[in-house]
Amino acid sequence: MEFKTLSADPVRRKTACLVLGVFDGRQQPATTQLVDEATGGLVSRLLSDGDAGAKPGETHLVVQPAGVAAERLLLVGCGKPGAYDAAAYRRAIGTAVTRLGRTRVADAVVALGRDGVASLDAYYLGRQGAEAAAAAAYRFDEHKAKSRQPRSALRRLTLACETRADANQAARGAADGAAVAAGVKFARDLANRPPNVCHPTHMAEEARKLANRHRAMSLEVLGEAQMKKLGMGALLSVARGSDQPPRLIVLKYRGAPAGEAPVVLVGKAITFDTGGISLKPPPGMDEMKFDMGGGAAVLGTMAALAELKPRLNVIAVVPACENMPSGRASRPGDIVETMSGHTVEILNTDAEGRLILCDALTYARRFKPEVVIDAATLTGACVIALGHQYTAVFSPDDALAHELLGAAERAGDPAWRMPVNEQYGESLKSNFADIANVGAREGGSSIAAAFLARFTDGLTWAHLDIAGSAWKTGREKGATGRPVQMLSEFLLARQSRRT
Ligand code: BES
Ligand code: MN
Ligand code: ZN
Repeated sequence: MEFKTLSADPVRRKTACLVLGVFDGRQQPATTQLVDEATGGLVSRLLSDGDAGAKPGETHLVVQPAGVAAERLLLVGCGKPGAYDAAAYRRAIGTAVTRLGRTRVADAVVALGRDGVASLDAYYLGRQGAEAAAAAAYRFDEHKAKSRQPRSALRRLTLACETRADANQAARGAADGAAVAAGVKFARDLANRPPNVCHPTHMAEEARKLANRHRAMSLEVLGEAQMKKLGMGALLSVARGSDQPPRLIVLKYRGAPAGEAPVVLVGKAITFDTGGISLKPPPGMDEMKFDMGGGAAVLGTMAALAELKPRLNVIAVVPACENMPSGRASRPGDIVETMSGHTVEILNTDAEGRLILCDALTYARRFKPEVVIDAATLTGACVIALGHQYTAVFSPDDALAHELLGAAERAGDPAWRMPVNEQYGESLKSNFADIANVGAREGGSSIAAAFLARFTDGLTWAHLDIAGSAWKTGREKGATGRPVQMLSEFLLARQSRRT
């Protein structure tokens, strides 16, 4: 879907549908008021009679309104003016796209009103608008019979802006938003795919397609033999139980001179997590196909970068394998040697994420990175702590943590800082190896982060636990693509810091 901007009077603009924001209260946005006057008070009548609602999520479609050039009006509830923030704005755009998807409208003008979204300047209004529209239009129907899928006719949304300058800024935002949305879609598609389709080799092939399409990208894929040579005993121990061969996907984006230190993004990609010999209980186990969400998001961010083209070097390192029980699988009590030389006693084979990440993080050192950020669906404890709203940010580096939280805020991809320090590492003591792969149950996500911290000494590093944010459960089950939005914004902001 295309997302454009305009600054002309939306009342006189010919369009199949004019989307208007309606608020709970007496004061309506300027455009809604103008349309109300032009239609002889139609909008205020619909609201006062209760035919149209102003609550978030409510819509009312008017066909052939008299007095305006639009063929239809779509009233979209925006809630209380005081509560109308960036999230409410994104929701209103999403609601409009969903409702229009059930009509034959191909082209609509959106005038929700800026009133209240003080936190968003015109650029972010365009950026988040384009991202919200694309997210609402997203469908994953690769495995549904074609004939049963009614397709939305909506091809273009045009955001009405108050001034020419705003429209230009919003158009810049919309262009960046389209690139981020493409990255989000890349990540969602990968993560939504069933685990019999999306295995480590499939992820490597998708990275290959991406690298082949863009000149600034190059790809290297390491297999078992190379992992053995590098001494990646922890990563290999997780892969051992599966008939699917593991892959270490290394995708490079070059936007700056070769000598410039890269940002390295590491993404956990367990294409299915059964728990291994420490087998998970059956309820909801299908959702462990999303356990490659970190890897998908890191690759999705690369897909976004291919279009955003920032002046930065970025390298994605994605350890991909499957965690299965079998006669070859690791047993609780097994001791493995990591690439760093530290030995790990595997007390629970279900704590596999940190095992593949520790070797990937050690591998990342060879790029002499400026910053390393990993994204992983690492702990159930993180979901208990933060629910599905926030991505957890762990970093011993205050400046990096704040940089990530700022990016998350601007991107509308919420994140919350959580603690990581050596105190949490204390429970990882092993009587038989240098470190155990699990510690106490309490504070489980900080303990997992402390495990990773043992392997990131001397690096400027942050860990994002996306166990709660990477997918939705229940009726809306599916991948969210998070934190592509936050990582893309983080990288865009890094580039402009340099200029
Ligand atoms: N992939 C899971 C974490 C997870 C669980 C994410 C539920 C989202 C929802 C991870 O590999 C795992 O199993 N972690 C264990 C660690 C424990 C054994 C220390 C967990 O959180 O239970
Ligand atoms: Mn697990
Ligand atoms: Zn896992």
